[in-house]
Amino acid sequence: MKILSVVGARPQFVKLAPIDKAARAAGVEHVIVHTGQHYDPMLSDVFFTELGISAPDVHLGVGSGSHGVQTGAMLGALDAVFDEHRPDWVLVYGDTNSTVAAALSAVKLHIPVAHLEAGLRSFNRRMPEEHNRVLTDHAADVLLAPTQVAVDHLATEGLADRTVLVGDVMTDVLFEQRDALPEGPSKLAAELGLEPGSFYVSTIHRAESTDDPARLAEIAGALSGLDKPVILLAHPRVVAKAAAHGIDLAQGTLHVHAPLAYADLLAAVLDSAGVVTDSGGLQKEAFLLRVPCTTVRTETEWVETVALGWNVLALTAEEIAAGVTRPRPADTDEAPYGDGHAAERVVRELIDRA
Ligand code: UD1
Repeated sequence: MKILSVVGARPQFVKLAPIDKAARAAGVEHVIVHTGQHYDPMLSDVFFTELGISAPDVHLGVGSGSHGVQTGAMLGALDAVFDEHRPDWVLVYGDTNSTVAAALSAVKLHIPVAHLEAGLRSFNRRMPEEHNRVLTDHAADVLLAPTQVAVDHLATEGLADRTVLVGDVMTDVLFEQRDALPEGPSKLAAELGLEPGSFYVSTIHRAESTDDPARLAEIAGALSGLDKPVILLAHPRVVAKAAAHGIDLAQGTLHVHAPLAYADLLAAVLDSAGVVTDSGGLQKEAFLLRVPCTTVRTETEWVETVALGWNVLALTAEEIAAGVTRPRPADTDEAPYGDGHAAERVVRELIDRA
């Protein structure tokens, strides 16, 4: 039994960690293909090292480019890799250009494809990630859904027969890493001399936040006028776009910091007064750590975080300020993202269906 995982961007390395561990525990051969979509060490290598993921067997080194150029380069390279390895399953993750390229290449070679984190929807057709998800779900043979809401979306699209609810694998890795955190202040708080609870953690990188100069200036302006320092863990995309648009990110309460390794990010979030982000993964991580989140978007795929009060959507400076200063949400024992054993279920499903 051989599973071939295709990954390329930071959130996929986080999801890969528990899958790689579960595959090894089950005695399954696991081939890892890294497309090279993310190549900066702090977006890629640090996750392999710190989360104990096996080194990639194949690295395509595709790098950056427009959507068509980047996705096409992956497609062109993956055919030969799949042909050589002939796995029982190609496993694709989430919603990036690496996901849709691998799904398309595999179905055309008649290799069964499973989509991890299937069924998420923003219903926002301006997001590249939304096209990637929808196309991948409709191409794949097995849809591994993280939540009941995702299962319901897939049923609405006529895909119920291929769907299985496994839970969220990011929850697996979060619980494990959270429980292993050392006592004491986070590295970020210690480095910046900040007291726990005295700062916000932020990430902003989506195309809809960064590509339009007026929108990026509005978000930077909002984050620079809050009641506490905002530490922006800056993805290279936001740094590059701010420079191109002539926007100074380091203003007022807004401070720019390099991205963090996974455990350091969890510790920083736990030490923070709240999270302000446009990231999908971080909204859910904040909820799982019970840290209030303000999401700078018009909608979210992780609707459970909003329904339970731990996440609010905010677009304008006023909405963002109101979001971060809102009273702490009511505690909850709800676990819409599963029990921390989703990856084991994924591997079991793939073995049973091989
Ligand atoms: C991608 C995913 C997004 C995911 C995000 C996580 C798509 C369409 N988007 O967005 O769903 O949430 O990853 O981070 O696949 N860059 C670097 N170094 C790197 C990687 C990127 O400098 O290691 C810069 C380049 O200027 C590049 C830009 O970031 O052009 C955008 O990178 P890209 O891979 O196209 O998308 P992300 O914005 O990272």
